[in-house]
Amino acid sequence: MPTKTDLEEILTGEHPEVVLESIEPFSRLMMRYKCAIMEVETKLRVLNAEFSVQYDRNPFESIKSRLKSPLSILEKLRRRDLPVTLEGMEQLFDIAGVRVICSFQEDIYALVDMLLAQDDIRLIEKKDYIQHPKPNGYRSLHLIVEVPIFLSQEKRYMKVEVQFRTIAMDFWASLEHKLKYKKDVKDPELIAARLRACAEQSALLDLEMQKIRHLIEWGQE
Ligand code: GTP
Ligand code: MG
Repeated sequence: MPTKTDLEEILTGEHPEVVLESIEPFSRLMMRYKCAIMEVETKLRVLNAEFSVQYDRNPFESIKSRLKSPLSILEKLRRRDLPVTLEGMEQLFDIAGVRVICSFQEDIYALVDMLLAQDDIRLIEKKDYIQHPKPNGYRSLHLIVEVPIFLSQEKRYMKVEVQFRTIAMDFWASLEHKLKYKKDVKDPELIAARLRACAEQSALLDLEMQKIRHLIEWGQE
């Protein structure tokens, strides 16, 4: 088990001889998170395949997954005042992250219901920023789930953060994320208000596109 300094050295990319034996448990943990991402991706792709045969369209456009980088893990452990140890890392629920980009808002809820209905998935937390957008306008549906991974000697439940967004929500969040890092803006309140207005316009567009889809498919909204 790495000591506090050992894991810090691994996370910062310094690997002196002395910590080499500690890299293995860290790499094993990261490997498990990688496997958990693969499990969640497969579950979603299976649902997509079934749904597309049944309804002749895909409920999601794309999936983007990421494993949190060692430096971001270190930064978050420090920010949360957690010990820089493997136990500390297990308090972070977003080391494994999967982002699902859907065409329509209603597809998000259909996919989430189908995913959570599976008997090997455990729901740890659900944040619906679509029904309850963040004050800055951010919209998405976030789940923390646990999925079992099957290794040669063990079955382990691993936590994965799954974010569901429409293309429009992703468009807004990606640009807002880029803009957030510009410092010393003249009028931050005005900028925040304009960004919020963009999020609201984009949510209206999402709903309008969904209504158009209903009109095309069912002849009514
Ligand atoms: P952290 O995990 O420390 O961020 O806190 P939390 O667990 O309270 O976060 P939450 O579940 O609300 O959001 C986690 C992730 O959602 C972030 O890492 C981003 O990917 C995304 N996110 C949340 N809020 C925003 C936002 O205002 N703008 C953008 N662009 N992304 C956001
Ligand atoms: Mg989080």
